[in-house]
Amino acid sequence: MLQGLEQRRIAKEETHMADGSGLATVSIRIKGDARSVSCGTSEKLLTAIEREFLNPRQRPVRVGCRQGGCGACRIKVTEGQYATEKMSRDHVTEEEETQGFALACRVYPQTDLEIEPAFRGPVKDRSGQDT
Ligand code: FES
Repeated sequence: MLQGLEQRRIAKEETHMADGSGLATVSIRIKGDARSVSCGTSEKLLTAIEREFLNPRQRPVRVGCRQGGCGACRIKVTEGQYATEKMSRDHVTEEEETQGFALACRVYPQTDLEIEPAFRGPVKDRSGQDT
């Protein structure tokens, strides 16, 4: 698993096509869902998800601050390689990071990925009460 800005910089250099024509695109599968998302290897995963699913109610991943601070976009990557920017340890511990947990707004896919949503905030019932 790649991590940090240095790895991301290297990844960006490697993702240009041999003929210099552009950036690589990978496919993001959402576990348990027939939908998938195309994402550039220099693009944040959450940006690609927002672009693909314009209706917030249909998004497979929650969107919050978009800056790695709120944890709303927490996911678990179950297959594939990716780079990350710094993530809040309040939302992804070092141990969880080694298990594939990440914040989609800090993830740059480097290969095709399979992900599953892993938001761990309070779940509200229909009346809006925490359960
Ligand atoms: S949207 Fe807030 S941490 Fe990703």
